[in-house]
Amino acid sequence: MRKFFYASDIGDLGKALSEARELKRNRLAYKSLGEGKTIMLVFFNSSLRTRLSSQKAALNLGLSPIVLNIGQDSWKLETELGVVMDGDKSEHLREAIPVMGCYCDLIGVRSFAGLKDREADYAETVLEQFVQYSGRPVISLESATVHPCQAFADLITIDEYKRRPRPKVVLSWAPHPRALPQAVPNSFAEWMLAAGMDLVITQPEGYELDPRFTAGARIEYDQMRAFEGADFVYAKNWSCPGVSDPSRYGQIICSDPSWTVGERQMTVTDNAYFMHCLPVRRNVVVTDAVIDSPASLVIPEAANREISVQVVMKRMLESL
Ligand code: CP
Repeated sequence: MRKFFYASDIGDLGKALSEARELKRNRLAYKSLGEGKTIMLVFFNSSLRTRLSSQKAALNLGLSPIVLNIGQDSWKLETELGVVMDGDKSEHLREAIPVMGCYCDLIGVRSFAGLKDREADYAETVLEQFVQYSGRPVISLESATVHPCQAFADLITIDEYKRRPRPKVVLSWAPHPRALPQAVPNSFAEWMLAAGMDLVITQPEGYELDPRFTAGARIEYDQMRAFEGADFVYAKNWSCPGVSDPSRYGQIICSDPSWTVGERQMTVTDNAYFMHCLPVRRNVVVTDAVIDSPASLVIPEAANREISVQVVMKRMLESL
């Protein structure tokens, strides 16, 4: 595997889930696989779970992690081609990426969407430069439009807790004071559909996600109706994807607090589990009562981040 951006990059999801179960039972089973090898974890943006789970997974595989926080530990990097570099950015990605590639065997990169230029974000311009110029396999640790390590961990969690073979999974938009990227909901929808789940997406009008990730899902604008009979509820905010109106890309177009996931919505589900990728704003995205209830899976989900990224690193090491 040379890159990990999409569900299709990992191949058969049944096999990937079996491998995740096996690794979870014995995390150190492949301790010698990464011996003498290094993974560089490059962060253009903040992280808690992704940073820690990736370092832990690397250590489980005997792989040495190097973490680089761009702009804090390094020079500020220019990402646009053709610009006159007379501002505060001292180095261009075009040199920095192949240099990073000299010092490692695998690379993981976190680089969020700018939310200004839809075309550039949806072309994954930063991550694709890492693929092109590093000479190393590249893992998206949440890039402009996808967060595959999170979606794979979410799938592992649903597989562990499901009470029927094809559960009803509801992805619900929720309010947020800041404009957030679409990477998490895009990947969640993509992976749920690839795994054959009964996926319903509920959101206010104008928040339709890109159909390349959601084709096959049922869209329901009435949140209460969407929640009826659900087995899993996944709450997440995202900014306007600009599918029907590109001029609104990245904007907040609804702040309606009635979309906050609370007991009112959860009561119409089939005792659904509550999920969120974290970090989460309590009493904005979800009420205290729901996230603190026994139905909340937010901690098991975060724990599975170590497993999902370990499967990916293992596959990449095996294909070096
Ligand atoms: N869910 C997730 O990716 O968390 P971090 O942003 O803390 O890494």
